[in-house]
Amino acid sequence: MNQFSLEGKSFIVTGASSGIGKAASRFLAEAGARVICVARRREPLDDLVATINNEGGKASRLVADLSVLEDLSDIASSCKKIYSPIHGLVNAAGVNLRQSVDDITIESWQSTLNINLAAPFFFSREFVSQMKAAGYGRIINFASLQSVRAFPNGLAYGASKGGICQLTRAMAEAWSHSSVTCNAIAPGFFPTELTEPVFSDSAVRQWAADQTLIGRNGEMEDLSGALIFLASEASKYITGQVLFVDGGFTAR
Ligand SMILES: NC(=O)c1ccc[n+]([C@@H]2O[C@H](COP(=O)([O-])OP(=O)(O)OC[C@H]3O[C@@H](n4cnc5c(N)ncnc54)[C@H](OP(=O)(O)O)[C@@H]3O)[C@@H](O)[C@H]2O)c1
Repeated sequence: MNQFSLEGKSFIVTGASSGIGKAASRFLAEAGARVICVARRREPLDDLVATINNEGGKASRLVADLSVLEDLSDIASSCKKIYSPIHGLVNAAGVNLRQSVDDITIESWQSTLNINLAAPFFFSREFVSQMKAAGYGRIINFASLQSVRAFPNGLAYGASKGGICQLTRAMAEAWSHSSVTCNAIAPGFFPTELTEPVFSDSAVRQWAADQTLIGRNGEMEDLSGALIFLASEASKYITGQVLFVDGGFTAR
């Protein structure tokens, strides 16, 4: 048996219209999973689903705004109508507004915390009973270097990502007994829409690479091993953990 195979498993990926969520959707499909790709922008989701299906994978999409917490139950029901049972959820949707401390408003604080921290909990909870019944559940959150480091203009984002580490442990505490594991991946710097301000500035980009032990920033493929591992049977005795995929940035 290939313990990294996801054949016969159904996964949801949030934030699938861009960056890490988009790549994660392809990695999961390549490993054999059926994938529901969720985000607000329809066109990039349609393109992604067409690509996956053309490559022989199986994917569907759902257009939804996950920051409206009251809607999450209905959004989850729509997902369950596409594929059931859901065996795994990758919570990759997120924002980093990069505001200075003085510019943060109650509204911007709440919108960051809603999508980065509250949605991963409330959305995940919608699928736990299906995962329990299936005897298989994998919830994967996204932490950050800012879970453990303070960067300029990162106060609200950092608070949400610090919170994600503890949320991951608390969700693991609540659900692991029923074969539903919960772990987080903490990427270093990967080129996406979210990190465009870093990668478009050669000095900052080089600074980030120089902080790693490996000597370069991340490339999407660097995330695939950790993701498939945490999604698969291979990680069945691992829960409540945060795996830094950061080239050794946080080892210094
Ligand atoms: N890139 C990195 O180096 C890095 C490093 C550490 C952590 N991370 C984390 O990894 C995750 C993915 O980041 P990324 O770099 O891939 O960012 P990205 O390219 O900006 O993608 C973010 C995704 O989140 C979706 N999203 C945002 N708000 C949403 C909402 N209200 N409802 C539904 N979907 C929403 C966006 O889609 P729509 O706009 O279409 O809704 C998009 O698909 C985030 O949690 C981020 O904090 C990234």
